Amino acid sequence: MSFAKNQIIKELNALDEQFLRRRLRSVDSPCGTRLRIAGRELQAFCSNDYLGFANHPDLISAIAKGASQFGVGSGASHLISGHHQIHDALEEKLASTQANAIPGAKALFFSTGYLANISAITGLSKLNNQQTRLYSAALNHASLIDGLRLAKGHANTDLFIFDHHNLDSLKEELKNDSSEHKLIITDGVFSMDGDLAPIATLLQLAEDYDALLLVDDAHGFGVLGKYGYGILEGSGLCSERLIYIGTLGKAAGLSGAFVCANELLIEWLIQKARPYIYSTASSPALAYALIRSLELIEGSEGQERRESLKSNIALWKQLTQFKVWNKLNSDTAIQPIVVGGNEIALQIAKELDLAGYWIPAIRPPTVPKGMARLRMTLSATHTHTQIRALSETLLSLETRLEVNKQ
Ligand SMILES: Cc1ncc(COP(=O)(O)O)c(C=O)c1O
Repeated sequence: MSFAKNQIIKELNALDEQFLRRRLRSVDSPCGTRLRIAGRELQAFCSNDYLGFANHPDLISAIAKGASQFGVGSGASHLISGHHQIHDALEEKLASTQANAIPGAKALFFSTGYLANISAITGLSKLNNQQTRLYSAALNHASLIDGLRLAKGHANTDLFIFDHHNLDSLKEELKNDSSEHKLIITDGVFSMDGDLAPIATLLQLAEDYDALLLVDDAHGFGVLGKYGYGILEGSGLCSERLIYIGTLGKAAGLSGAFVCANELLIEWLIQKARPYIYSTASSPALAYALIRSLELIEGSEGQERRESLKSNIALWKQLTQFKVWNKLNSDTAIQPIVVGGNEIALQIAKELDLAGYWIPAIRPPTVPKGMARLRMTLSATHTHTQIRALSETLLSLETRLEVNKQ
């Protein structure tokens, strides 16, 4: 015991020395573009509440109504007695969002995106006596990586990592792969870079080499497409090989996630996805409120908010050109500024805090070493005035910090 204690202290000190220690901050106000923390108000440019639905009055009422109608707890896992009719209704609505892209689309609702990703990867890797090869984009989210780590523990499963900017190596590997079962895995919108996966090319490769394609569209669902159905909407892509994962704690404003795929694959996940089988089903009140959130997303309010978000992204891109810091090329709500080292990233985040802004420093292992950044995000509910003021603050901060360095 005392050995572990000393070792933990030593490792925590090492994290401090490398500027890698993470710290919790407790918010004392509802989610929004202005947050109260320790008695101070900060302008937040860091949440994933891209449409500003996390504190929407209709969703607050829906949670309360759902709770009075269905109760607050599900009482058990889905396969015992925790699966309510309102979960069915939600899953039907979720499946309808991908119906144009996935023939025979069915959806399975999970309590988080993290669990949905682990479930889909491990579940789809569990085929008896079949050699399985998993192909994963290098910058995929940690929850996909953890799914891969668990799946690799299964016999007959191995892994190839590819660069989503250059698919030559992926193609070469697929060409020479004689495994019975192949699964290509990618973020839809890359969570730390903000760029989009080349879905059409990936699906073509999946078709050409008999693979499945799993797309984690955590940051696209609710935001991309006229109706907010995500990266596949309007793409013209349609295939039984597609497995779509959307999360509901980001643009949808609540929490949860879903896997959408052909009926047979969903039936298989119900049998084999351990986080689905061995975990309490989410509250039926939440399922009820999520249906209302989906109505908002696809309706006129969602469409208007996506227009506001687009206009905010365009303004930000036009306003800010850094001399030294690297603003990544992204057209989505995720607009990261790569500054390099951990220490400088922390220093900038601290200076921003003093100036009244909250944009956390994201460091390894969340991003590659030497690529620490401010992961700035925009919401439909930011005003142009807020964005202009932030831009001026950041530009003058860059000048001050870079001049001081010389
Ligand atoms: C790309 C991606 N996938 C999955 C998740 C996990 O989703 P959840 O927060 O619902 O667990 C996240 C969370 O940030 C994410 O960025």
